[in-house]
Amino acid sequence: MNGMESRLRRIFRKETGCSLVVAIDHGMALGPMTGIVDIQKTVSELDATGTVDAWLVTKGIYTHAFEPAGSPGVIMRASGAATIAGPDLTHEGITSTVEEALSLGADAVAVSAFIGSDFEHQTLVDTAMTATACHKWNVPLLGVMGLGKTNEEKKKDPKFIALGARVGAEHGADIIKTYYTETDFEKVTAGCPVPVMIAGGPKCETDLDTLEMIYNALQQGAKGIVMGRNVWQSPHPVALLAAVEGLIHAGFKVREAAQLLEEKIKG
Ligand code: 5RP
Repeated sequence: MNGMESRLRRIFRKETGCSLVVAIDHGMALGPMTGIVDIQKTVSELDATGTVDAWLVTKGIYTHAFEPAGSPGVIMRASGAATIAGPDLTHEGITSTVEEALSLGADAVAVSAFIGSDFEHQTLVDTAMTATACHKWNVPLLGVMGLGKTNEEKKKDPKFIALGARVGAEHGADIIKTYYTETDFEKVTAGCPVPVMIAGGPKCETDLDTLEMIYNALQQGAKGIVMGRNVWQSPHPVALLAAVEGLIHAGFKVREAAQLLEEKIKG
């Protein structure tokens, strides 16, 4: 096994080849959101469930407030520097190096690229150059494929999402995170040579909607989910994680996952 394989194994479970990643990197752009105000508490409580394979964190949170109960995988963000108060959230730049990620003990690095935005070119160059640096050290790169604000409609367009996933892989990402599309998502995964994970996206109306989205994505070739708001803004995050783990790693149908959710909620 080489360094790349051993680090990927810290993220994707060997038995299923899939992963449940909880993202808590939102504060870098959006500040202290509901669910991650006391981020230390969120991490320790959710990690104690043993359901989380890896966490997506910024270097600041990782260094100062990350105290998991176990020893989960860690994907460290290496792009950012744009906030909700600024002119454009897609104007990200590189904020770390693979050497820093390694020295902090991260297992993988994440960089965003914004397809169709004014910053498409620069963010793709950043992705490609970070891939080069990552591969020197056998560190996997998660390509976080975002879209510009004006491209909101395109999030639902499988052709556009397939373009983004493929472009991220072509620029050297080893794992892709992108949006789930209700139609033709299998075309997104089929056209991408590296594992595709879906983003949780804005809070779903119900936990059942979240479970259905994840189940459908898995049926269409997704290798798991990188979810934030739908977990830590859920009224029952611990129960929901158990149900999501069932879908991702135990082959549950939506009905079985929903049943487990109910049982866990009742305690
Ligand atoms: C923000 C991100 C988030 O980590 C990612 O979108 C997952 O979080 P959520 O499930 O809340 O969408 O990359 O740039």
